[in-house]
Amino acid sequence: MFWANKARLLVLLVLPSLAFLFLQQFYSHSQCPGLVEKSSPMHVLILSSWRSGSSFVGQLFSQHPDVFYLMEPAWHVWTTLSSGNAWQLQMAVRDLIRSVFLCDMSVFDAYMAQGPRKQSSLFMWETSRALCSPPACHLFKRESIVPQDDCKILCSKQPFNLVEEACKSYSHVVLKEVRFFNLKTLQPLLTDPSLNLHIIHLVRDPRAVFRSRENTKRELNYGSHVIMGKQWNKIKSEDQPYHLMTAICLSQQEIYKAAQLLPDSLRERYLLIRYEDLVQDPLTQTSKLYEFAGLRFLPHLQIWVRNLTQGKGMGGRAFDTNSRNAQSVSQAWRRSLPHDKVVQLQKICKDYMNLMGYLPVLSEKDQKNLSVNLLSAVEFP
Ligand SMILES: *[C@@H]1O[C@H](CO)[C@@H](O)[C@H](O)[C@H]1NC(C)=O
Ligand SMILES: *[C@@H]1O[C@H](CO)[C@@H](O)[C@H](O)[C@H]1NC(C)=O
Repeated sequence: MFWANKARLLVLLVLPSLAFLFLQQFYSHSQCPGLVEKSSPMHVLILSSWRSGSSFVGQLFSQHPDVFYLMEPAWHVWTTLSSGNAWQLQMAVRDLIRSVFLCDMSVFDAYMAQGPRKQSSLFMWETSRALCSPPACHLFKRESIVPQDDCKILCSKQPFNLVEEACKSYSHVVLKEVRFFNLKTLQPLLTDPSLNLHIIHLVRDPRAVFRSRENTKRELNYGSHVIMGKQWNKIKSEDQPYHLMTAICLSQQEIYKAAQLLPDSLRERYLLIRYEDLVQDPLTQTSKLYEFAGLRFLPHLQIWVRNLTQGKGMGGRAFDTNSRNAQSVSQAWRRSLPHDKVVQLQKICKDYMNLMGYLPVLSEKDQKNLSVNLLSAVEFP
């Protein structure tokens, strides 16, 4: 009896180990030559708000040959489930993000019209270098910087199933989203064992965001409805931008604060970056971002980023600003935004600005005088 049990125990313990060793051997030898061993993929979420330079940061990742990138996949959720507000839609957004990180593109079935689909059915697909190079499209190389305008012309006919195939061939999946307003929604993804989620939280001076939004009001109007819900139409139109900025400042601040409360093991998966620091020193900041994501800053990417700082080779419209004038663009609100608006913004976003090191201007004279520095050096933990 005793021995029979012991033998059974032995079988229970030893057989699985042998099977494991066998499978391990089998898999390590069955790798296609040239393919890097597929360790667990890295998932990076660029978390930001509108007009905060997230397309720029998205491109820094998209052009990396190890990265499969999509820009704002949750656009499909918001435009399809148009009766919901941001709060109601956040779980659908989260579940979509999770599926896309795992390269399960069937999730888009719920948000796209029936019938044959192309990869160009995806919102802003051409901003993804991965969808412009093999296996998605054979007209550009994975290791090249691909301008999105060229890709849009040459790779738009590719069938939709190539999106999934392409995604599965990368070690890093990077998504950019502006449709999260708290960290709580995302927390289950941080602890999800099938994901290795890292969050890059990109923030920008709310005065610059406000000015930039004023220039793109019509495009952003739909999103504003979703953010503010039913109350939106009851707000006087001249007050609407301030209500919106209140919501944006508050949500960005809450995300940052919630991240500080994460347990250490998760805390290190969150990185805060200010857009202003990025445009001031793109090489250093890009290298920091890549390091966080476990990516090598390859020589051709270093040249490309250096080119960007010299105003050369934008690689498409994603850079609606180049870095040489990015600095003056990020200061443009100081000339064009009336001082009373600035004062009002500084009031409603006071805590957020304080937290992020954006200094208030105390007079119109200081606002217009570009020698007055409005960015304090903050070391974020
Ligand atoms: C950098 O700029 C030079 C000069 O304009 C150009 O020839 C080169 O292709 C650019 N390289 C990259 C990687 O953008
Ligand atoms: C602009 O600000 C700088 C730095 O504070 C100051 O030295 C300078 O006098 C100011 N210029 C004007 C015209 O006020």
